[in-house]
Amino acid sequence: MNIAVLVSGRGTNLESILKAKQKGILNSNISLVLSDKENVRALDVAKSYGIRALALPRKNFKSKEDFEQKMLESLEKYNTHFLVLAGFMRILSDSFIKAFENKIINIHPSLLPCYKGLSTHQRVLSDGTLFSGASVHFVNSELDSGPIIIQGVVSILENDTEETLSKRVLEIEHKILVQAIKWVEENRVEIKQKRVYIKGAKYGAFPFNPALEVF
Ligand code: GRF
Repeated sequence: MNIAVLVSGRGTNLESILKAKQKGILNSNISLVLSDKENVRALDVAKSYGIRALALPRKNFKSKEDFEQKMLESLEKYNTHFLVLAGFMRILSDSFIKAFENKIINIHPSLLPCYKGLSTHQRVLSDGTLFSGASVHFVNSELDSGPIIIQGVVSILENDTEETLSKRVLEIEHKILVQAIKWVEENRVEIKQKRVYIKGAKYGAFPFNPALEVF
């Protein structure tokens, strides 16, 4: 399977994917890293692992349609089968998503369906919830709303700040994103209505479900 990873910035989730690939945990070919911004760390991460890295700055295109058309051409050129949004900060149009139906996943730093969108950690802390976490989900036409593949949970600590909480959630992100990709490449992911079932894996969240194969 040829996977393209779409990024916009720091690229730590991309790094966790590439490390997993290096360790032989993931077997897919990471055929392309595509960024909507120039000069971001994620592009350097890709290059440091010898992965093809392409920047398509949105500002260079007249319209969203032109921008997405160019993305689709690049994805096609490298025979892409599956897309991973790893900190990609743009909303994709319905027609783009249709071109990769049920073949796009996203990592989001909250326990969806709560806290869709931006500034999740800040909102979690100001609401005083006792848990937060991260979710990997399929991308559909509604923001952060597609079927959830895996979630990981963290407790909120008494003295948490946005910084400390985001750091703990990020560690979870790195694990569950790799796990989700592994399940996809093993062809074990089944979507039934809104729910996702993993063939041969016990149902539940990380880290409470010891049967999950997250490393
Ligand atoms: C992550 O928190 C991800 O969940 C969110 O954007 C952040 C990207 O981080 N969508 P990185 O670029 O992977 O370091």
